[in-house]
Amino acid sequence: MVYLTRKEHFCASHRLFNPEFSDELNLQTYGKCSYPNGHGHNYEIEVTVSGEPDPRTGMILDLKKLSDIIEEEILRKVDHRHLNVDVDFLKNIIPTAENLAIAFWKKLSPRIAPGILHSLRVYETPNNFAEYRG
Ligand code: NI
Repeated sequence: MVYLTRKEHFCASHRLFNPEFSDELNLQTYGKCSYPNGHGHNYEIEVTVSGEPDPRTGMILDLKKLSDIIEEEILRKVDHRHLNVDVDFLKNIIPTAENLAIAFWKKLSPRIAPGILHSLRVYETPNNFAEYRG
């Protein structure tokens, strides 16, 4: 089994808050990330596919094709958007790195072939990332 990873980048804004919490509890829970008008991040995502290289091509799948699928399913919908309000598939989701990893997985997983989606990482900052493995 070989693991092949494609890294991509997007910029977006978000606000972390739970509408069921008071302002005070949101501030206590999410700190600066709960400030009412949101803030931006330079997100990185890493999409890892597992499989066996095709003996004829030496590849699990074409990375260009994978990049196109990530663009179509995710980047085109989230880049330079506000994740709380602009993105259909994130409606009613608190846009933490954890929840983004799960939501992006759901969009990509059915599109990956040959190979299977192994993990999806969302870096909110260089030091903080969430990884989902289905
Ligand atoms: Ni944030």
